[in-house]
Amino acid sequence: MPSDAPPGGPTYHQDIAPLLARSCTTCHRSGGIAPLSLTTYEEVAPFAGLIATSVAERTMPPYNLDNSGTCNTYVDALWLAERDIATIDAWAEAGAPAGEPTDEPQDGPPGWEPERVDLTLEMPTAYSPSEPIVDDYRCFILDPGLTEDAFVTAFEVRLGRPDVVHHLTLFALDTAEDEQGAEALDAAEDGPGYTCFGDTVVPSRWLVGTGPSDKGGRLPAGTGLRIGAGRKTVLQMHYNWQNGTAPDQTAVDLTLEPSVPKEAFVARVADLTLELPPGQPAVVESEVMPLEGDFTLWGVWPHMHNLGKELRVTANHPGSEVCLAQVNRYNFHWQRFAFYEEPVQVRAGDVLQITCTYDTTGRDTPTTWGFGTDDEMCIGFFYITPTG
Ligand code: HEC
Repeated sequence: MPSDAPPGGPTYHQDIAPLLARSCTTCHRSGGIAPLSLTTYEEVAPFAGLIATSVAERTMPPYNLDNSGTCNTYVDALWLAERDIATIDAWAEAGAPAGEPTDEPQDGPPGWEPERVDLTLEMPTAYSPSEPIVDDYRCFILDPGLTEDAFVTAFEVRLGRPDVVHHLTLFALDTAEDEQGAEALDAAEDGPGYTCFGDTVVPSRWLVGTGPSDKGGRLPAGTGLRIGAGRKTVLQMHYNWQNGTAPDQTAVDLTLEPSVPKEAFVARVADLTLELPPGQPAVVESEVMPLEGDFTLWGVWPHMHNLGKELRVTANHPGSEVCLAQVNRYNFHWQRFAFYEEPVQVRAGDVLQITCTYDTTGRDTPTTWGFGTDDEMCIGFFYITPTG
């Protein structure tokens, strides 16, 4: 690689390595979930052009929500500043100069550990992702064995095989009927757990989840999500076996409190009446929902399936609009809850509006709402607490 770039321009050792360590190498290292390791000059330089393109198009780092501030901003967003994108571009344009090595340690984002582990929910046996399916979604019913209600306030995930687990979500089952539904699905399939694309198939409530490469965290201070006494949970694992089908046995450590100042709920605004005609690059669906109470919105999780391209949620009251979520390039694989840097207050009478855009050019029959891989959804999940 040429190192005769004009003096003063960005170099790998001075500028690029620290940036990649901050935003990329948690996934892009040997044993990480991404296909290429980006931890040395020799690894990075041949891909300079591809790296510059992927960050300019914002396909990397992978993050569904627009964090630029034109809509909103989120805690710990995987999002590069415009200035960093320009630095990478200038470096690639200059022929990817190495520069002088420094002694500076290249630190990644700080790790996180819960202060206290009160309950561990672990898959009862190891599970090997199924061979014929590239993306295997598997649900495991786990019994917390609680004798009193408790509130989840923080969590840490311990992945059995970080290279085969894509992401996971833990859900609460709130009724005996929902538990029986899940148990029937489990009993109807061979091996541990049952197949569950996108969701738990039976009614359930989100508790905690991690996207690829993140390990957990704290729920917003003063809030927590209830697990009912005697109730069960479902751990939904998404395995992507581009790295193989090694058996995985994952555990989730939870910090619990007997009570919290504000019990949080996961509510949703959704368009349930999807009727997407085939063969169109941009089919737009929209729904409104008037609010019946006052709430604090702490976080959002945009959800569509594989045809989803764009999604926007706003809260409207006469004369003003607050943008809650803007997704410009939806990717089913990069879903997660994102908490607002500034929680949003909404009031009774405000109207939530959700708009989803789909690309149906690959379909020759209409697509409707449903739980299957080939069905679609249009949902904004919100982490909320009632106010006032
Ligand atoms: C959360 C994990 C994660 C992070 C963080 C991440 N990547 Fe990736 N990256 C992936 C995965 C997984 C792939 C494989 C393709 C896919 O699944 O989309 C990938 C693919 C790529 C590719 C291959 C080109 C392509 O489009 O397929 C490039 C280049 C890349 N990433 C660059 C970066 C850079 C530069 C950063 C940091 C600014 C970064 N990535 C941050 C997970 C990540």
